[in-house]
Amino acid sequence: MTDDAAERPSPERPSPEPPESAEELGARLVAEVQAAGAARPGQRVLHARGIGAAGQFVSTGAGARFTRAAHLQPEMVTPLVVRFSNGSADPDASDGTRDGRGMATKFRLGDGSSTDIVALSLPMFFVRTTDDFVDFVRARRPDPATGEMDLNKVLAFLGEHPEAQAAAELSIAAPAPVGYDTVRYHSVHVFWLVGADGRRTPVRYRWQPAAGVRGLSDEEAAAQPADYLQSGLASALAAGSVRFDLEIVVGQDGDPTDDATSVWPEDRESLVVGRLELTGLADAEPLIFDPTRVTDGIDCSDDPILHARSAAYGASYAQRTTS
Ligand code: HEM
Repeated sequence: MTDDAAERPSPERPSPEPPESAEELGARLVAEVQAAGAARPGQRVLHARGIGAAGQFVSTGAGARFTRAAHLQPEMVTPLVVRFSNGSADPDASDGTRDGRGMATKFRLGDGSSTDIVALSLPMFFVRTTDDFVDFVRARRPDPATGEMDLNKVLAFLGEHPEAQAAAELSIAAPAPVGYDTVRYHSVHVFWLVGADGRRTPVRYRWQPAAGVRGLSDEEAAAQPADYLQSGLASALAAGSVRFDLEIVVGQDGDPTDDATSVWPEDRESLVVGRLELTGLADAEPLIFDPTRVTDGIDCSDDPILHARSAAYGASYAQRTTS
């Protein structure tokens, strides 16, 4: 082989692309979201509008059947901070807007570490891969000429991605909530609970509001002040405490564990593993809530969206804390 031939890429051995690092993936996903134009410097790139509260989590002990995680052992009481949010990148969008709602929880464990659950008002997500996430974000990007989303592009995306339809239908149908404490929040992703003997059980988390799941009609939502979810949470906390039950839904052999668009059959066993009681407002800034921040006794699943979230939240955090 001549020197010249050695420099030419061989069809049998194309020069390998270096794999994208988590940092590069996070920065790329954040840039795609920011290209829509609603995000603001110094704010979260999504779920920009939110409010923090503090309280405690009292374990029922029912989770100890599946996991050695400290906060799920019998009689454990764990302090925590929660951030409720609206999904939009626009921190000034009215609370009455139809939107996904978030509940991000950071359990402060006795050893000084923490573990997070970053949950959404939908039980499943729109996409199962990061490439599909990028296509979905691009399909929803406002047309520069009109400033409006192009419905045809969104419908074309949904036509090519039937797995996105369940989340799309639910999010269109979901009314604005009465309060942040009248929403059921879901982990969406699967996590593996790991017992003292190493036995692994796939679960999803669900926060069930003690106040029940309640929404507003469009007319009622339009009549609310723009900050009614934030002021309503403050009033609910002043009037008593705000409570949620943490349920785990237990998967069975064959249930998908790495697909954020999937849901498991309704008949899967569910158990209340603890009760969350919020007692007052708290500063949740500039905290980062990361769904992959798990403690001993909990493992992440291989869901690519779960791991992409960690990368994107890190990139968003770096930007909002340095700009
Ligand atoms: C690849 C898919 C996704 C991307 C790129 C993405 C991106 C982001 C970003 C950049 C933030 C701001 C993070 C920060 O600054 O701390 C955020 C927040 C959030 N996302 Fe996602 N997200 C994705 C999927 C999901 C899914 C599947 C859920 C469902 C549970 C979700 C729920 C939330 C919540 C609740 C917050 C607010 C967290 C907080 O209050 O700090 N996201 N997302």
